[in-house]
Amino acid sequence: MKSRICEILDIKYPIIQGGMAWVSTAELAGAVSNAGGLGIIAAGNAPSSVIKEEIDKIKNLTDKPYGINVMLLSPFVDEIMELVAAERVPVITTGAGNPGKYLKHLKEIGTKVIPVVPSVALAKRVEKAGVDAVIVEGTEAGGHIGELTTMVLVPQVVDAVEIPVIAAGGIADGRGMVAAFALGAEGVQIGTRFICSKECKIHEDYKKIVLKAKDRDTIVTGRSTGHPVRVVKNKLSKDFQKLEKSGADVQELEKLGAGKLKLSVVDGDVENGSVMAGQIAGLVKDIKNCKEIIEDMIKEASNTYKSMGNFD
Ligand SMILES: Cc1cc2nc3c(=O)[nH]c(=O)nc-3n(C[C@H](O)[C@H](O)[C@H](O)COP(=O)(O)O)c2cc1C
Repeated sequence: MKSRICEILDIKYPIIQGGMAWVSTAELAGAVSNAGGLGIIAAGNAPSSVIKEEIDKIKNLTDKPYGINVMLLSPFVDEIMELVAAERVPVITTGAGNPGKYLKHLKEIGTKVIPVVPSVALAKRVEKAGVDAVIVEGTEAGGHIGELTTMVLVPQVVDAVEIPVIAAGGIADGRGMVAAFALGAEGVQIGTRFICSKECKIHEDYKKIVLKAKDRDTIVTGRSTGHPVRVVKNKLSKDFQKLEKSGADVQELEKLGAGKLKLSVVDGDVENGSVMAGQIAGLVKDIKNCKEIIEDMIKEASNTYKSMGNFD
């Protein structure tokens, strides 16, 4: 499963751990990078001083490439971009838009830039702007999402761009990885599976909810605000849905959602907090270390591929 993604990012396996606000710390990212994937620290809405500490930590944990996920809607986006440039971070992934205005400088210093995109149109726009690859994320994914599934979006983006495509959303094992490659992807980005890893230092109750979740246990809230989010059903998601149905305005809805990911990830309040996870949570049944997750995935992908036979 060597691909252009392994070459561009200088990694052994084309497996990227998705940036997850509050969840993807240096410990998780360092473990993934050490296991041969690309670990990513999520900047979320944190100021650059917080992310500088995480960068210092990961530099002590691994000498392998790593990345920072930058939310382009963060109030601290400019200072985060200055920090990643000053620290010569090898890779950045971006969420919520087009990183075009930062590209020239980042490319000059050799930082690889890979935006997350929910549509063919945005994939084409960021390719034109000069990014190195795109992460195509389907609506199955945990967290903020678009409307199209991974299955339909990946091959359409693959046909529309020349740069390598990384598939995200609904991939948690070797079978999913082979499926993504069959659609033309050259790498996979994985979030939910890595939540249930030993090195993911979140509240244990969050992991328990993800482990317990079945196929139909996630829902999407926030469509009416224009920022849909996939979460595991709980008291907060029910309250949110009720408020949405009542026709509440965006401000009121955003007030209910504010600070709720930290409440569950850090404080362990998994009823009143937001438990973001993807539809694939139903497939995640155990907690393993990142090395086992990645090596099992590669082994299973290889066996799956061999067992498929010919189609003629
Ligand atoms: C708890 C959680 C938080 C997330 N936060 C972010 C984020 O801050 N930035 C981002 O670009 N994507 C975020 N994502 C999306 C992941 O990076 C990744 O693309 C997604 O989880 C892949 O789908 P999967 O969950 O089916 O593996 C988040 C996902 C989860 C589950």
